[in-house]
Amino acid sequence: MEVEDILRGFPEQIEEAVGLVKDVRIKGAVSNILICAIGGSGIGGDLLKDYLKKELKIPIIVNRDYSIPEFVDKNTLVFVVSYSGNTKETLSAYKEAESKKAKIIAITSNGKLSKICRNYVLVPGGIPPRFALAYLFFPMLIVLQKLRLIKNKNKDIKKVITVLKKFRPIKAKNLARSLYKKIPVIYASENYRAVVYRWKTQFNEDSKCFAIANVIPELDHNEIEAELNKNFEIVLIRDMKDSPEIKKQTNATKSIIGPINEIYVEGKGLLAKMFYAIYLGDYVSCYLALLNKKDPMKIKKIDKLKRKLK
Ligand code: PA5
Repeated sequence: MEVEDILRGFPEQIEEAVGLVKDVRIKGAVSNILICAIGGSGIGGDLLKDYLKKELKIPIIVNRDYSIPEFVDKNTLVFVVSYSGNTKETLSAYKEAESKKAKIIAITSNGKLSKICRNYVLVPGGIPPRFALAYLFFPMLIVLQKLRLIKNKNKDIKKVITVLKKFRPIKAKNLARSLYKKIPVIYASENYRAVVYRWKTQFNEDSKCFAIANVIPELDHNEIEAELNKNFEIVLIRDMKDSPEIKKQTNATKSIIGPINEIYVEGKGLLAKMFYAIYLGDYVSCYLALLNKKDPMKIKKIDKLKRKLK
């Protein structure tokens, strides 16, 4: 499948992903959530954390390492997410979670994970993990909904699909042209922490370039001092619904850092806006890959590293 087909199919992948979770077999109360995943499989955890920040009464931690935090016990719900099912760090974290008798649900398309974990959601395979975000994020949301840890999200999910179906890639093409031969610097407000990080990692993996991502207010206390030059190109992602303090601070930041590409997220509700921004960023990174004469589907160095670690 070509990258354009995968990107175009994203709204349908969401519809499909929502239906992948059947019954959720978890016993007893959940006192915290750990998401063990890395790279393209890890970003869904960050998004979940940002999106549910104002609703979920228990903490979510995203764990990108071989080992897991000490607090994990039988009351921890652990999502082990690896698209390939073979990622070393994630498999090692899975084993630790299992030894601590945590309530584990894996999300994978294949590999060792589907062999060793009894409780898993099987997602369609055959695309690069970072482009499988719909399959890796939405099942976690549905599990939490089925466990009644969060309210029903069907309306929010519909709003995501609506805004993505209306998306026109021309904006992404133009932005990719402004970023060509530059180091993209992606800024947004704290609610979009996972989103800007996703932009950065998509530039790294798809476009094969360095990128910087940071959020307001944090960057106003450090990175704002860093000297910008013509090698950098700033993209500021904004939300009309940001709080008055954040709006004021974003305008002040903008007046200090100088010329930027300003983008307002579209859609209704935080989830739709987050996914609108993700979708735009994914397209930009792929167009930039084409300008850079790189294949967004191939990640030779990551593959080489994984072979060395075998
Ligand atoms: O997008 C990618 O291919 C990578 O970032 C992978 O997601 C990462 O290497 C982890 O692999 P997996 O998602 O199969 O666990």
